[in-house]
Amino acid sequence: MSNANEKRLAGEAAIRYVEDGAVVGVGTGSTVAYFIEALAGMKDRIKGAVSSSEQSTAQLRKHGIEILDLNSTGPLTIYIDGADECDPHKRLIKGGGAALTREKIVAETAQKFVCIIDSSKQVDVLGTFPLPIEVIPMARSLIGREIVKRGGNPVWRDGVVTDNGNWIIDVHGWRITDPVALERDLNQLPGIVTVGLFARRPADVVLVGDREI
Ligand code: 5RP
Repeated sequence: MSNANEKRLAGEAAIRYVEDGAVVGVGTGSTVAYFIEALAGMKDRIKGAVSSSEQSTAQLRKHGIEILDLNSTGPLTIYIDGADECDPHKRLIKGGGAALTREKIVAETAQKFVCIIDSSKQVDVLGTFPLPIEVIPMARSLIGREIVKRGGNPVWRDGVVTDNGNWIIDVHGWRITDPVALERDLNQLPGIVTVGLFARRPADVVLVGDREI
């Protein structure tokens, strides 16, 4: 089955985790785009959505789904999002679409994080996909040097500005055997806004196509 077909199946299958009356946390990316299309079919049964990016906000609004402010909703019951890699412990690399900061905030507040992927995203060890890190622009070189000290190869995603006005560094060459420790270590560095490792708060459910693992 093609990756696009698996993404569509995963996006559609995630609907079964959305309960009537919910405020739905919505991630970002091509897999999530399928989820939003499916969510539009039940928009009258949900309260609205908390969106993780301008991109998803535009698609949700196009379908008349109300965008709610996380500061007003309180904790969410459900968050649906894709990933760039997923290990057997449901720990993820995210941020290929540069939306990692808001994604991590919404994931943190959700009781249940359902991750929707195609099978190409499943790995034994994270790190083949370059790890995205969102940085404050003036800290780009500082963080680059810190990454080199840790054996990584930092590549600035030139021309990309996040929804928060920051920059992205993609780290190549790391085989991430202890993602919780690496996430904790990098989170200490001033200038890093968000590390694209979702390990301390992994997904709760992973759908590969329409199959829950
Ligand atoms: C955006 C993300 C996406 O979830 C990730 O890049 C996967 O995208 P896609 O569903 O298009 O493969 O983390 O920041």
